[in-house]
Amino acid sequence: MAKTLIVSNRLPVKITQTEKGLSLEPSAGGLATGLGSIYKQGENIWIGWPGLYLNDEASKDNVAEELKTENMSPVWLTAEEIKDYYEGFSNETLWPNFHYFPQYVEFNEDYWEAYKRVNRKFADAIMALAEEDDTIWLHDYQLLLVPEMLRETLPHAQIGFFQHIPFPSYEIFRMLPWRRELLVGMLGSDLIGFHTYDDMRHFLSAVNRLAGFSNEHGVITTGKRKVKVESYPMGIDYDKYERTAASGETLEREVRYRRSLGDHKLMLSIDRLDYSKGIPQRLRAFEHLLREYPEYREQVSLLIVVVPSRDQVEKYSNLKDEIELLVGRINGQYGRLNWRPIHYFYRSYPLHALSAFYRMSHVALVTPMRDGMNLVCKEYIASKLDQRGVLILSEMAGASKELSDAILVNPNNQDQMMEAMHRALTMPEEEQKQHMEIMQTSLRRYNIHHWVSMFMGDLEEMKASQRGTLTRLLDTKLQNQLKKAYTKGKKRVLFLDYDGTMVGFTKDPNEARPDKELLDLITQLADDPQNRVIIISGRGRDTLEKWLGHLSVDFIVEHGVWMREQGKDWELAGKVTDVWKEDMRKTLDLYVDRTPGSFIEEKNYSLVWHFRKVETGLGELRSRELCSHLRFLSTNEDLQVLEGDMVVEIKNRNVNKGRGASAWLQRFPGDFTFAAGDDWTDEDTFKAMPKEAYTIKVGSKNTAARFYVESHHNVRAILKDLIE
Ligand code: UDP
Ligand code: G6P
Repeated sequence: MAKTLIVSNRLPVKITQTEKGLSLEPSAGGLATGLGSIYKQGENIWIGWPGLYLNDEASKDNVAEELKTENMSPVWLTAEEIKDYYEGFSNETLWPNFHYFPQYVEFNEDYWEAYKRVNRKFADAIMALAEEDDTIWLHDYQLLLVPEMLRETLPHAQIGFFQHIPFPSYEIFRMLPWRRELLVGMLGSDLIGFHTYDDMRHFLSAVNRLAGFSNEHGVITTGKRKVKVESYPMGIDYDKYERTAASGETLEREVRYRRSLGDHKLMLSIDRLDYSKGIPQRLRAFEHLLREYPEYREQVSLLIVVVPSRDQVEKYSNLKDEIELLVGRINGQYGRLNWRPIHYFYRSYPLHALSAFYRMSHVALVTPMRDGMNLVCKEYIASKLDQRGVLILSEMAGASKELSDAILVNPNNQDQMMEAMHRALTMPEEEQKQHMEIMQTSLRRYNIHHWVSMFMGDLEEMKASQRGTLTRLLDTKLQNQLKKAYTKGKKRVLFLDYDGTMVGFTKDPNEARPDKELLDLITQLADDPQNRVIIISGRGRDTLEKWLGHLSVDFIVEHGVWMREQGKDWELAGKVTDVWKEDMRKTLDLYVDRTPGSFIEEKNYSLVWHFRKVETGLGELRSRELCSHLRFLSTNEDLQVLEGDMVVEIKNRNVNKGRGASAWLQRFPGDFTFAAGDDWTDEDTFKAMPKEAYTIKVGSKNTAARFYVESHHNVRAILKDLIE
């Protein structure tokens, strides 16, 4: 059975050496907690570093055995690799650059060399476990080179990459000396995901400027392959957080904590130790609040949890000192015997404790300077079963694009942060509930399962389309096969598109009239009593009738609006119906799934997709994508796509080439079927053909046809060969 290999620098569990031996605990960070509920399905495996350095083989084997039972496989790093690859290049070079702290970036060639070596080590570990049909899903900035390393040895592998941290603007990214290599590394993937549209467009712009590859609707063509780039805002396991908040253990903890902390109003702050999280700025804003609004003294406390992280990196250990100094100062200045302004904890907590904190807090302060997504704020919302509570959220967090019902702040603006706290602490309950309700509804829908299925669905689609590019060139050998099938056929049906398929394009379409060679060719083909030749075209009936009406051919024209059996009268296809709606709604639904804030309006004979409430820029992008998607489906369905003010509407116009072709095959079934076409309107003809039909696309390999040829000259040569 095909499996998914999830690969990240860190495994979702962290192994530590204790006096009693090795102990396993959950890793901190959004990547690990987010995917933690997913990886144990089926034969899936999570490959990564167990978070400690071991130097004896026996202990490594022990750990590997234990991890195996939990669907995990370790990649061991040496002390030097941890220093240069993990602490060094990953966290002293990429992390600050990608989080807009360019002044913190270390440019160190040894770090870069170690990064390449360790990425190779991960690629080798993956190749040792990957089988033909497996899907490989790589995660985050520590492994940017792995996709291309895998691609070199596994050219057909299905490789997805998700980046959990921001992708910076080109102007910041270009500062890295190794920028091009990093991009090329990522482009080994079939699909690259980011949390937000901004990250995605920064990446596309960097690829365009530094690697010279442009994109169409986020699909980059590298010359060798296509790579899709998309935004997938990561959600949480909503049910789990909701359930945990209702559990006996959480309630019991809440009572206990409340008893210790007193009944002051609580504001909550939870993050890993990281300068990107804006912890000192948050503390200063709280101090500012106590100074400017003395009424909150002895009334409100800040509960602040800082989870230890990367403390061997100097910038992180300095940050810890800074935070502790600030906490000490504020508590020293404002504290009273019966009230402590800040309860500070430098440690991690189990799920039920976090859940109790979320439940107890009137306000959550999530104010990073920069954050890829931020899951803490989502967990807070999911845990608010009584819908009482207020989220203050930095506009620099990816989550702010979805949670516009939070109080959004710029973390560099201390006054604004202070006023936001004041507003949150005085917000009427009714208003709190209104905002909570909207955010909960959204997070429930765009949950972690939704995120995985959107990403995996696109990865599969991408792979199928890569396979599509494997459509075979109709070479001499295949042509002989075709001829044999044709000769054997007693009742042959041949659908021929006109422009681009049998004649080349001209500036003026009226000049594309058939030349003598073509007229002779069609005449001979159509005069064979065993053949039924159908000219299937988007052109109007008058021109085609004038040019070819004297031949013994049938017509399906104007994309299937009109049809004519030879010697008979023209027939009009179909009436206006609404049977198409169900299919189209699925497409629109897909765009609603992918685009938080959008929705569908249904009318009698049309469907409308509204995007007024969608993140600026993303709505426009998706609407263009949706229009071309719908147009592709709809011209052949004879539906019409209209672009309005923040809406896309699809309405009835009936009929298409594919339906025309199916109708013809029902009337005149054959034992040999052939179809040739050159553009996207012919794709429906191809799809309407029986599986064994000879379907030939002119020009592009990206098609539902079985074969392709270079130009209309080849089509003529093939037809000539058949009648000779
Ligand atoms: N977390 C945890 N233990 C703690 C505090 C936090 O497991 O003591 C989790 C928290 O529940 C969240 C994750 O760590 O799921 C932090 O993810 P986020 O995306 O907010 O930030 P990141 O650490 O990935 O930058
Ligand atoms: C963020 C990153 C993850 C990382 C986590 C914890 O969530 O996106 O890739 O694993 O922080 O950091 P650490 O360095 O301890 O793995």
